[in-house]
Amino acid sequence: MNVPMKVTVNGKLHALDVEPRMLLVEMVREQLDLTGTHVGCDTTYCGACTVLLNGAAVKSCTMFAVQADGAEITTVEGLEKDGQLHPIQKAFGDAYGLQCGYCTPGLMLSTLQLLSENKQPDEKDMRKAIAGNTCRCTGYQNVLKAMQLAAQNMKGA
Ligand code: FES
Ligand code: FES
Repeated sequence: MNVPMKVTVNGKLHALDVEPRMLLVEMVREQLDLTGTHVGCDTTYCGACTVLLNGAAVKSCTMFAVQADGAEITTVEGLEKDGQLHPIQKAFGDAYGLQCGYCTPGLMLSTLQLLSENKQPDEKDMRKAIAGNTCRCTGYQNVLKAMQLAAQNMKGA
């Protein structure tokens, strides 16, 4: 039996009926068509499914959709505003913080949580913030450069 729920995703309120066993990542991708949130492992390891839940980075493969009833979710699609890239998106592009891009939505959302709480993170803060995000391509150095650039971009914004 489906369960009714309401959730605000990227500023838009949705009233949904979901199976109790549906994962949050399935709701985001399959019910709302927001496929920028990726599934890399399904076992809480890779962080490709990271979204913000009331501002906190969570792995959406590890929560049931109904647990987000009444919450505010931000996915990667919520970063761009009025056709303008978010400073974090711009920084990841400018600093070559990605290669295949599979992990990138999750890394950018973990970066957003960090920079919302700490406008001048040091390298240790940045490494800790992305400890739950795995990238198989970049070796992380450019990700860290992108995060640093994002912090500068957001200070100027
Ligand atoms: S798909 Fe969620 S942590 Fe890998
Ligand atoms: S850029 Fe390919 S997995 Fe990170």
